[in-house]
Amino acid sequence: MYPVIEWKNNKVYMIDQRLLPLEEKFIEHSKYTEVADSIKNMVIRGAPAIGVAAAMGIALGVLNEKKNYLKEFPKIIEVISSTRPTAVNLFWAVERMKGVFEKFNYDYDILKKRMVEEALCIDREDVKINKKIGKNGEVLLKSGQTVLTHCNAGALATAGYGTALGVIRAAYENKKDILVIADETRPYLQGARLTVWELQKDNIHVKLITDNMSGYLMSKGLIDAVIVGADRIAKNGDTANKIGTYSLAILAKFHKIPFYIAAPVSTIDFSIASGKEIPIEQRPKQEVINFRNQRIASSETEVYNPAFDVTPHDLISAIITEKRVIYPCFKEEIKKLKLIKQITL
Ligand code: MRU
Repeated sequence: MYPVIEWKNNKVYMIDQRLLPLEEKFIEHSKYTEVADSIKNMVIRGAPAIGVAAAMGIALGVLNEKKNYLKEFPKIIEVISSTRPTAVNLFWAVERMKGVFEKFNYDYDILKKRMVEEALCIDREDVKINKKIGKNGEVLLKSGQTVLTHCNAGALATAGYGTALGVIRAAYENKKDILVIADETRPYLQGARLTVWELQKDNIHVKLITDNMSGYLMSKGLIDAVIVGADRIAKNGDTANKIGTYSLAILAKFHKIPFYIAAPVSTIDFSIASGKEIPIEQRPKQEVINFRNQRIASSETEVYNPAFDVTPHDLISAIITEKRVIYPCFKEEIKKLKLIKQITL
């Protein structure tokens, strides 16, 4: 296993995901503003990994502000919170860190120790949660099946193991023979660059397609299930995930192929009723008019570049969480899920 994000000697290290798979380089962060820049600039990405990075960034901020920690804390929170708007795990982690701050800010030495402990706890918990998601979800897959995934909801998008790819890893650990079809995922190519890289490292059979090939493969009966991750799930089950997920869900419905979301409960935003309330990040034009560093359209070209879309709940067959797998009606099931106590990790 390769560390996606690590806390070492009061510094945060992240593998630079922008360079993968061509280069495996780690970036050192000693200031919270550097962590914020790395989240914004996609050094680290994927909803749960962003949550872990946010928590470590806040802990780093408190460590570096010994004299002014009470005054500086709101600014630290604001800078970290304004990095990326869609993945709710970021705001979930911020709330957890704020809770610890409020409880222990009467004594700096106790506070700094507790802030670091909480960030490390969020990191460790995430791997355990993903393994539970994997275990709960792998029963939905049969040996010999082909599973399509979009973007990267793997070890690289989390503290380790992955959500959608965690389900596939768990199926492999259970000796199931699964072929993974990875969408390349334009414009940022998380599928081609990251999903393929991490599955190949684990000797999981993967084939890469461009995003426009999935309908053809489905029409030929070559896909048995679709599994993707999530950035934010509303109370009715509407799910924001990487741009292109919505189109895949429609294709899956048309071809009667199950469409699964795999995500931790921390990805559910219990404060919003539907996907209409999910803020969608708009990213720079350069990501669309360039293919990596090569220009492919004139610089005057106008573009749309939404990073995510929302899949309506009625296109989703099941949501796989660490607590259990839920099926429609999601509104009812998500309400019940909230009432189930946190499972022992
Ligand atoms: O823009 P990204 O790379 O952060 O988008 C990531 C995704 O959309 C993932 O599918 C999602 O965060 C789930 S990761 C377990």
